[in-house]
Amino acid sequence: PVLILLGPPGAGKGTQARMLEEQFGLVQLSTGDLLRAAVAAGTEAGKEAKAVMEAGELVSDGIVLAILRDRLAAADCARGVVLDGFPRTTGQAEALDQLLASGGQRVNAAVSLEVDDVKMVVRITGRFTCGACGEGYHETFKPPRRAETCDACGAQDMKRRADDNAKTVMSRLDAYHAQTEPLLQYYSEKSVLKSVDAMAEIDVIARQLAQIAGRLA
Ligand code: AP5
Ligand code: ZN
Repeated sequence: PVLILLGPPGAGKGTQARMLEEQFGLVQLSTGDLLRAAVAAGTEAGKEAKAVMEAGELVSDGIVLAILRDRLAAADCARGVVLDGFPRTTGQAEALDQLLASGGQRVNAAVSLEVDDVKMVVRITGRFTCGACGEGYHETFKPPRRAETCDACGAQDMKRRADDNAKTVMSRLDAYHAQTEPLLQYYSEKSVLKSVDAMAEIDVIARQLAQIAGRLA
């Protein structure tokens, strides 16, 4: 199945996608992670994306689609995917539909994670991630059991993202409302839109998403 998580920065797309990966064996496909890897590797696409991401704006559809298409073609994606942070524009959504249709597939569910924008600033500025295994944490909402030590792998290599500051978060929220929110209508018209109250606790949201994913399997 193909499951999309839609929602503004901080809504919990990455947190929930990782849980769906563990529980259902779906492959988490995050265009944000793929772009950050391209930036770190210094590829042409990465060089172009870097400043755009630091400004909190959207990277061009051309770059994002090229990266996504390559990753989606990898063998493991045949198990099913959870798309985290993609699509983000109507152009990306249409391109995804075409790409899936050519392989006899379609989007099975698009879940909108509904949140209060104002609270997203706190979620994002308190976030950090294990550099070794990618597990995500939050100073207040999901602290590791031992300070600075990853619960999942034991590494002491916590990282913060370059775009996780209050100023950039405001641009990212604006980009979401202007360019991504129209996708709620797009998927509603295709009768695959679901929504979840994403101000709830992480485990409560995870249970609701598990129900949705379970029905697709
Ligand atoms: P991307 O990496 O996709 O970032 P984002 O959309 O801004 O989303 P985040 O990763 O910030 O938030 P999240 O929803 O995953 O929240 P998380 O689970 O971490 O994109 C970054 C940039 O790349 C974009 O700005 C753009 O430039 C570019 N880009 C990426 N994809 C693109 C595309 N398709 N097209 C064009 N450009 C693209 O949770 C946040 C924090 O809150 C964590 O600390 C977590 O522990 C905590 N938390 C999670 N859930 C809860 C909860 N229920 N209660 C309390 N705390 C919680
Ligand atoms: Zn770790």
